[in-house]
Amino acid sequence: MKATAHTNIALIKYWGKRNTELNLPTTSSLSLTLDKFYTTTSVQPANHDCFILNNQVVDATRVHHFLDILRQQLGNFTPLQVVSENHVPTSAGLASSASAFAALTGAVTHELGMDLSKEELSRLARRGSGSASRSFFGNFAMWHKGIDDASSFAESLNAPELPIALVVAEVCDAPKKITSTEGMKRAVTSPNYDHWLSKSANQFIDMQHAILDQDIDKIGALAEDNALGMHALNLTATKSPFTYFTDKTQLILSLIQDMRHQGILAYATIDAGPNVKIITTAQEAPKIATILNHAIPSLKLEIAQSGPGISYD
Ligand code: PMV
Repeated sequence: MKATAHTNIALIKYWGKRNTELNLPTTSSLSLTLDKFYTTTSVQPANHDCFILNNQVVDATRVHHFLDILRQQLGNFTPLQVVSENHVPTSAGLASSASAFAALTGAVTHELGMDLSKEELSRLARRGSGSASRSFFGNFAMWHKGIDDASSFAESLNAPELPIALVVAEVCDAPKKITSTEGMKRAVTSPNYDHWLSKSANQFIDMQHAILDQDIDKIGALAEDNALGMHALNLTATKSPFTYFTDKTQLILSLIQDMRHQGILAYATIDAGPNVKIITTAQEAPKIATILNHAIPSLKLEIAQSGPGISYD
């Protein structure tokens, strides 16, 4: 059984766990699923669990651990060979864990003959990677933080497709990687964390309105404010403060401000790495890519738009 899930980018971020084992978040988050980047995963019975990624056998402790969680949740099942192809180029600077754990959850449950709702799949995939909970849905998805394991899952916002686009700018000089789990652990020690939580709760509501009003400028402004707030937590952490930003990240942020002064709709969002994703319209995206390419010729650039939910074949 084969499942394909697309990756998503959070416009309102998940950045903090209130339960590490269950991956219960401190905030509700809201994302846009992307058309270009996806993972295809198939599973079949085998002698022991094994994982083949892009034609190579890899030791993925997280995948093995996740299969064991699925066994606890769904009832024991035989060992599986998991074969995944990631169409999330490392050059895009996007995390592949969202699409990977969503596709794996879909493939395993279908292999077991289970026809679960996307909300139930979302709850399961959350245990592999929080952001995977949002990758079952096309277009915009909301992951409700919930109060416990049963109530923390994503659902579709049921919004119209907008001419929104994302210019993904890969900054090549990446510093040493701090995983999202480690980054979150440090961020929650910031004295500003509680303020970010209450602001994020309001932004989660405002973002839903902005999307339903089809106001891409408002969507971008809210997303940028939310993301920069998240990164400010990293800088102000009491325990091992850090930043994912490099000089090029900063330079792109100031170029985005310049573009806005010129009347171009452009806002930044940044995840657990130095790459910048610029929120704009489909119409303005090529212009933004040209400006960035001119200013920093070494940047790798991709343009993505709204993508579909999980599919099976
Ligand atoms: O799903 P994780 O554990 O890789 O965490 C994702 C964290 C961010 O990408 C920074 C934000 C988000 O909501 O996707």
